[in-house]
Amino acid sequence: MKKLPTPCYLIGEKKLHKNMEKLAAIREQSGARLLLALKCFAAWGVFDLMKPYMDGTTSSSYYEARLGYETFGKETHAYSVAYSSEDVKKVSVFSDKIIFNSLSQLQQFYPECSGVTCGIRINPGVSYSDFDLADPARTFSRLGVTSITDIEAAMPMVSGAMVHFNCENEDVAAFEQMLAGISLKYGAFLEQFDWMSLGGGISYTEDHFDSVRFAEIIKDFSQKFGLQVYLEPGEAAVAHTTTLVTTVLDIVENTKKIAIVDASIEAHMLDLLIYRESATFEGTIAQGGFPYQIAGRSCLAADIFGEGCFQNELQIGDTIVIKDAAGYTMVKKNWFNGLKMPSVAIMRTDGQIDVLQESSYTDYKRSLSTKLRI
Ligand SMILES: Cc1ncc(COP(=O)(O)O)c(C=O)c1O
Repeated sequence: MKKLPTPCYLIGEKKLHKNMEKLAAIREQSGARLLLALKCFAAWGVFDLMKPYMDGTTSSSYYEARLGYETFGKETHAYSVAYSSEDVKKVSVFSDKIIFNSLSQLQQFYPECSGVTCGIRINPGVSYSDFDLADPARTFSRLGVTSITDIEAAMPMVSGAMVHFNCENEDVAAFEQMLAGISLKYGAFLEQFDWMSLGGGISYTEDHFDSVRFAEIIKDFSQKFGLQVYLEPGEAAVAHTTTLVTTVLDIVENTKKIAIVDASIEAHMLDLLIYRESATFEGTIAQGGFPYQIAGRSCLAADIFGEGCFQNELQIGDTIVIKDAAGYTMVKKNWFNGLKMPSVAIMRTDGQIDVLQESSYTDYKRSLSTKLRI
């Protein structure tokens, strides 16, 4: 670990395989097809490891759809909160399905979608989310059609639909209850659909997740309505697989001891800041030891990863390994403060580390301007 240049997002191949095997069991038992949600994780250098276990990708934009098609292959679903005419022309070339967020988008672009299967996103008005920011059924949500008359009007143009109504849901009973409500409310449409995507937001790969019961629920739903179910795991596919490996650059004291590492929560683990969560660290103990605040090196006053009690006193040059740095993390990294971008590497099952991506000053400069003046 000492030799790895930091900062670095380090993906564990063994851990990724473990998650993939859990997902593949659900796929096998339920008959659902699994599409990786690229909005969560798009480090395509490891897609070869994921392809055998999943059926393709789903996206939120033209770039994601194209990346999925080019690097993952198999089935490509395109969805966007709002397409431009240009987007639709481009995604319709390689997408197996285009899912529209509203009736007006579907009506506007359906004539341009000949040869592509179309779908509509439905906002079922129910959701499971501890975070208002991420709640797809939040008040005034723009995510999907809410009226039955809009779905009726869409029916001649679509062969299926997408509902995304969960966020970090580990509660299979709660999922079952919501799906029963959706089945009741939209049953007449579901009977006519060939396929239905139930979105993401399910914690399939957490240890206590009841995947056997979940698979039964999906299988029953699929058989009842005679449709192909799609699931769109993002976070679950990569949870607990990846760390952000950093080096302590300085240790300062202001009432408590603060270790400043060569990364930044705002630039390199932004989601934690957005959702006001703390990072966790490898090698910490529950009580005793040496307590430190682990902080980032951007100028943000609250660039704080979190707190931890370490077995030994930290020294400048020590490695701090921040846990769970894959989902919604690598895709959100940014150039705030012009900080060195973490590289991306994978630790193979035999312990060898291969670097998949490195950024340089040139990437930083190009991200800001490519011409001196217009
Ligand atoms: C439509 C859709 N599908 C899939 C996902 C992936 O969700 P998760 O990463 O929580 O599994 C999301 C997340 O926001 C989503 O909006």
